[in-house]
Amino acid sequence: MDTRVEELARCQNLDDSALLKLMGTDQYDAQLFAAADAVRRRVYGRDVYLRGLIEVSNICRNNCHYCGIRRGNRLVKRYRLNYEDILACCTTGYALNFRTVVLQGGEDLIHTDEWLCALIGEIKKRYLDCAITLSLGERPAASYQALFEAGADRYLLRHETADAGHYGRLHPEGMRLEERMRHLWELKAIGYQVGSGFMVGSPYQRPEHLLADLRFLQELQPAMIGIGPFISHRDTPFKHFANGALDLTLRLIAILRLLFPYALIPATTALSTIAPQGREMGLAAGANVVMPNLSPLAVRKLYTLYDNKICTGEEAAEGVRLLQRQIEAAGYRIAVHRGDAPLLPERQGEIYKITK
Ligand code: 5AD
Repeated sequence: MDTRVEELARCQNLDDSALLKLMGTDQYDAQLFAAADAVRRRVYGRDVYLRGLIEVSNICRNNCHYCGIRRGNRLVKRYRLNYEDILACCTTGYALNFRTVVLQGGEDLIHTDEWLCALIGEIKKRYLDCAITLSLGERPAASYQALFEAGADRYLLRHETADAGHYGRLHPEGMRLEERMRHLWELKAIGYQVGSGFMVGSPYQRPEHLLADLRFLQELQPAMIGIGPFISHRDTPFKHFANGALDLTLRLIAILRLLFPYALIPATTALSTIAPQGREMGLAAGANVVMPNLSPLAVRKLYTLYDNKICTGEEAAEGVRLLQRQIEAAGYRIAVHRGDAPLLPERQGEIYKITK
């Protein structure tokens, strides 16, 4: 294989065997990360975008085998935030320079369209220059449409794995990859900036599954791509499985940056949970978004998707000044605006044309 990864980066046409080689060894890491960082700097300069994550409910009708807030976990104390709680989080976030709020939660049936549309309308009315991202799982197409019309801008729905057999092993019967993918296409057709992504090192995952993830994302061309290591949760069927690896997660962030120059790619909480310097390492590998936790302190410990999830310190909104200092010390700058993807996905290839 051509070891000059920078050369490869320019063509955006990494073939399967090249991708497998990049994923499977640390031999190319230095070049891979440098190439990804160069691409990210060309598109986004030094800017890093902040998203304030509000975990609106840990009640979920789903029973995904990996997830700590799965329906079958009787040991979780369940909560849901009300309007006042959520609006108070938004006020705190705005004062801390967040210009995107992410409303994330389990698939809680109390979140009717009516309830959510009123909430979205109120947030938009109060904070004209803020974007709203939803991360509320699968909903009917008419619901996505109504929420979009109410003012939601973006929707995050990870596909989790693009291999149908693997999807079946991570999810209970009745959940289907085809269905998940259909939702992603629906969201895109409505006009959302769509985010998808997958876990790295989830149980039964093989390198070919990761290839399928990358190829699916190339078809979908999402504006946002979130990945993080699988982290086992003690009260799930996957409690005995090992966590995903830091090095593979970082390599995949870098590969995503090369394949999707314009994508908004977070250095996720899961990454920071498995490595103290995870956030900075993620940024250095090509990520350009961080999502501090804006949820009320009282409920943060209850939104435990996986064990040891960090939710205080600089990962939390209160620690944003420390976060800012760390990000600046690492050579980046926090941008105070919505941080939309700058160009249509159709133009993703252009970054490489410029460099030729
Ligand atoms: N480890 C890592 N990530 C997880 N998620 C859910 N459970 C876990 C876990 N045990 C991720 C899923 C989901 C996102 C909100 O959190 O990818 O889409």
